[in-house]
Order: sequence, then structure tokens, then C-alpha cells
Amino acid sequence: MTRTSIKAVIPAAGLGTRFLPATKAMPKEMLPVVDKPAIQYVVEEAVAAGSDDVLVVVGRNKNALANHFDRVTELEHTLAQKGDDSKLEKVMAASRLADVHFVRQGDPLGLGHAVLRARKHVGNETFAVLLGDDLIDARDVLLSRMIEVSRTQSATVIALMEVDPSHIHMYGCAAVDATGEDDVVKVKYLVEKPAAADAPSNLAVIGRYVLKPEIFDVLEKTEPGKGGEIQLTDALEALAADEEIAGPVLGVVFRGRRYDTGDRLDYIKSNVLLALDRDDLGPDLSAWVKELAERL
Ligand code: UTP
Repeated sequence: MTRTSIKAVIPAAGLGTRFLPATKAMPKEMLPVVDKPAIQYVVEEAVAAGSDDVLVVVGRNKNALANHFDRVTELEHTLAQKGDDSKLEKVMAASRLADVHFVRQGDPLGLGHAVLRARKHVGNETFAVLLGDDLIDARDVLLSRMIEVSRTQSATVIALMEVDPSHIHMYGCAAVDATGEDDVVKVKYLVEKPAAADAPSNLAVIGRYVLKPEIFDVLEKTEPGKGGEIQLTDALEALAADEEIAGPVLGVVFRGRRYDTGDRLDYIKSNVLLALDRDDLGPDLSAWVKELAERL
């Protein structure tokens, strides 16, 4: 199978207020999940789905992000001299992953505004957006399926996940029609954070999008919505309402493992779950978790 490269955009310019004070001087996308910053998992996912060009939209505290994807020759030199190849490999991995570019958002005027900042870099091509605090387990397939659906159906594609109806008020929610494919739905409209009683489904929008370049013109015209921010959901809603603009909006229903590292409780759970799966940490952590469960 031949794969054509697709540009990936990772918005990482949010204020991350739920994590204060940890995010006072550091973007939340740099918080470690086990021993890697969250954003490195996301860049690895983009690369695995066929992207070799990644644009990170940065805000204040951007240096930590830029430095992470840069070489750090002094440390590399010291580890090489010590012959510590395994740590050297860990240090160099992030700088070798892909061509990582940065653009500033300026003021954090919303996710839609962050995506609009990618316009010049992306040009007139379909591109992927991956939220830098939303992790998809590397063993499960999502983005490459979304890219495939976008290409075969010339569609804008969003990622959806079934959630417990009592949690839908925390997400964007999609009203959908079935298609001939089990994991693909047609998006009729979106509702931002509905009460359970008003939700048209239990399908929540999660942080992966495959967008066509027409989204940029729509975002330019999108008025600030909730919280005075330019919402990506509003622009997607406009596309879903008028197929003439850029074809249909489809949803790929993800049934794998997702970790929301922007939420404190999910962040802690993510660290435990991912560490349990690791050969170097899993056995000891598992024994401790069992012991802890007995004590609680
Ligand atoms: P969130 O809704 O999680 O907002 O953004 P936030 O401000 O970062 O976090 P809290 O709620 O204050 O803790 C979703 C994604 O969009 C990016 C964030 O970095 C995150 O990946 N984002 C959001 C931007 O890049 N720019 C913005 O103006 C807003």
C-alpha cells in the first residue's frame, strides 16, 4: 500500500488552566505521561499515520516545546561518552521523528483560531489536526482510518467515541446517520456540551480531525462563540449544514483506547494504565496497585 504524506497540525497553545500551577511556566502538552511528554506520543501517532511534516501551534511557554524537538548536543555527547546507548536513543528520538515546525497563536482565541494559524503552512491541501493533550493508544487504529475515509469519500472527517450519556455534557456531541460502513457515520449537526436530555446521541467528538482546506475560509468567517473563542466546532457545523462548501462531514467511530491528559483525573489514570503495560515498570506497579486496592 502506498501512502501519500499528509501535513499534521497540533494545537498546543491553550492555557491549560485545569493543571495550574503545573502549567504556569510549561504547556500542558509537555506534562510527562510515564516518561515522555504527552505531545511526543501525538507526534509519533501522526508519523505512524503517514505524516512527516508536523506544525505545532504554540502559545506562551513555547520554548519547552521547541526545545523538546531540537537536538541537545551537550547531553548527547555526555551519554555517547558514557556509552549509554539506550538513554542516548531516548534523547535523540524526538528530534528525529519528523520535520517539526512551529507557529505562534498569539492570544489563545480558541481552537478554531489555532487551526487558522496553520493556513499558510498547510496551503491548499487536506491536513490532519491532532490535539496535543489527547492520546490515542499506539496499538489502536484511528488517524490512518480517518485519512483513508477522507480520501475515498472526499470528506471532512472527525473522530467520535461512544461515551456514557452522563458524560456527554463534557464534549461536543454529533447527531448522525448510519452509512454502509460500521465504523463510519454521516454527521448531520453538532451540539457543544449538551445536557444528557438534549443530546442527539452518545457520540462525543474527540481530538482528531482530517480537514479540507476549505475549512480556512469558513474559520475566517466564524464569529467568536462560547467564551469569546473561535470554535472549530462552529466551523465544522457550517460544513455539515452545507455540503456545497466542501462535501460531507463524516465521523469515524473509535472503539479503542484514548487518554485525555488535559483532565487531571484522566491524566493520573493514563500514567497508571500506560505504565502497567510497560515491561520495565508493569510488574512492580501491578503488584503495588493490587496491594493498594486491598488497603482502600
Ligand atoms: P482545551 O479546551 O483543553 O483548553 O483545548 P485549554 O485552555 O488548553 O485547557 P484548560 O481547559 O484551560 O485546562 C483543547 C486543545 O486546543 C488547544 C489546547 O492546547 C488543547 O490542545 N488550544 C485551545 C489552542 O491551541 N489554542 C486555544 O486558543 C485554545
